[in-house]
Amino acid sequence: MQTRTLGSTGPTVSAVGLGAMSMSGAYGPADRGESIATVRAALDAGVTLVDTGDFYGMGHNELLLSEALRGRDRDSYLLSVKFGQQVGPGMRFSGQDCRPASVRNFLSYSLTRLGVDHVDIYRPARLDRSVPIEDTIGAIKEMIDAGYVRYVGLSEVDAETVRRAHAVHPVADLQIEYSLLSRAVEADVLPTLQELGIGLTAYGVLGRGLLSGNWVPGRADDPRNHSPRFSAENASHNLALVDALRRVADAKGCTVAQLAIAWVAAQDPSIVALVGARTRQRLAEALPALDVKLSADDLEEIEAAVPKGAARGDRYPAAFMSSLGVGN
Ligand SMILES: NC(=O)c1ccc[n+]([C@@H]2O[C@H](COP(=O)([O-])OP(=O)(O)OC[C@H]3O[C@@H](n4cnc5c(N)ncnc54)[C@H](OP(=O)(O)O)[C@@H]3O)[C@@H](O)[C@H]2O)c1
Repeated sequence: MQTRTLGSTGPTVSAVGLGAMSMSGAYGPADRGESIATVRAALDAGVTLVDTGDFYGMGHNELLLSEALRGRDRDSYLLSVKFGQQVGPGMRFSGQDCRPASVRNFLSYSLTRLGVDHVDIYRPARLDRSVPIEDTIGAIKEMIDAGYVRYVGLSEVDAETVRRAHAVHPVADLQIEYSLLSRAVEADVLPTLQELGIGLTAYGVLGRGLLSGNWVPGRADDPRNHSPRFSAENASHNLALVDALRRVADAKGCTVAQLAIAWVAAQDPSIVALVGARTRQRLAEALPALDVKLSADDLEEIEAAVPKGAARGDRYPAAFMSSLGVGN
């Protein structure tokens, strides 16, 4: 397993990390036993970064990880945890709470559910526009000083917020959507991270399944049906882009998912790709992706297959777009 270092102050982790969100129903039902087996297989294969959020399945995801990680050497993996997302019964998202007292409260619940004495990277899931980012990062810094957290992370914020947060305490990484279909980070965010020495943990590298070559429309229990890129009016256009990418992948002798992961990793040496695998089969396909070496000609062909801005539809439903630091 290749490793990468998150910026100039962050930890060294596996170049491919495991995102656990879909193990708690984000993309329809997940098999608990298979999810746990997938986490364990990832660690056995050398994955050292595992990403979760306290709101993934309302604590379900952290409890699942606690079971999957039981008995493992705590120094053999890093936990990245997001907090702050407010969710009511029926999975009604209702904004952010990143007040300092809430940071401490969320953290103590997460530590208990995860069954660990520290979180490695702790990050607000979104900017709480009613709380200065300095206050939120200051609260995480206090938790670092107390030994409950090791690194500050950010998620889905703009370049200006990155600067403000970094001035309070060095930020290890920004977690943000980055894929062939979602390239908004390239304008301001990525150059700012490079300037400040901050890593980028890319999520959605498989376009939430669109770039996987496996997603098929029409599954009634799939929450992605509410996502613009998967809607009836946009899906066929976006799947045609995947077909174009598949032709490049076939010529390279890899799968379209592997090519999509390799492309993100090729954009900067400080990028770590999170993969949302919930089965050992998907994990096994994703892990060798960084063995796919992309030449300048390959990158040109990929660009021609999926040009920047080619995806149709916003990357989130309309109600969520305003909480993001960058667009599509
Ligand atoms: N910071 C944030 O705001 C934020 C937001 C969303 C997610 N995240 C984090 O990022 C992680 C990954 O995000 P994501 O799951 O939304 O996106 P993703 O990794 O782009 O997509 C996951 C989808 O790709 C499929 N897949 C996974 N590995 C595959 C492979 N090797 N070959 C083919 N298909 C494959 C999965 O298939 P199956 O359907 O078969 O499982 C699933 O449908 C999450 O688990 C979470 O930890 C962070």
